[in-house]
Amino acid sequence: MPALPALPPNAARLPTTPQLHALLTIIRDKNTPRSDFIFYSDRIIRLLVEEGLNHLPVLERTVMTPTGCPYTGVAFEGRICGVSILRAGEAMESGLRECCRSVRIGKILIQRDEETAKPKLFYAKLPEDIEHRWVLLLDPMLATGGSAIQAIQVLLDHGVKAERILFLNMIASPEGLDAIWNACPQVRVVSAWVDARLSAQNCIIPGLGDYGDRYYSG
Ligand code: PRP
Repeated sequence: MPALPALPPNAARLPTTPQLHALLTIIRDKNTPRSDFIFYSDRIIRLLVEEGLNHLPVLERTVMTPTGCPYTGVAFEGRICGVSILRAGEAMESGLRECCRSVRIGKILIQRDEETAKPKLFYAKLPEDIEHRWVLLLDPMLATGGSAIQAIQVLLDHGVKAERILFLNMIASPEGLDAIWNACPQVRVVSAWVDARLSAQNCIIPGLGDYGDRYYSG
């Protein structure tokens, strides 16, 4: 198991279990066919969403069980929505829907310039009451952090409170985590795995290549 880099205070990662390590090994393999890439990355997304939900606040709630006993448990404090950063983030929507039935999902289209790695915003369509919701921001890859920071700014511009944004990603670079911590420290980040570094071309190393290409066009 590789050594784990230290994380900024607003970041968390999934427990580094053998299962997670094996799933990631499959999707990192350049010889993995598209159908397996989709199946195994969907497995990781499900684990990530389940862990992400643990970071949302809950309130005490008492229910009555069929045995006639009151049971004091908890319920989520507020309503949530998902927002995917297109294209690759769309791949995480079904994993969120599996855990949160009928969840509202908005979309932000941001594309990274392949030469400069700078993000460009093309489109945003968000739930009209998003300022009252907790937002699960979805994008599998966090490289320089430029796309995520721009998407976070779109959410802030729509009235979402920074502390209500939870950014879920599968593979993060230490540089991307630092960039989000420096730009918006109140936004929390949950990653399935944190890789070693960025390359000179701003690609995650070792990474898995272009997630959108591998998920959508093999
Ligand atoms: C990739 C990836 C992230 C972004 C990460 O998307 O899905 O959105 O780059 O890089 P950054 O942290 O340096 O901004 P890309 O722009 O290639 O578009 P795609 O989703 O269509 O593949």
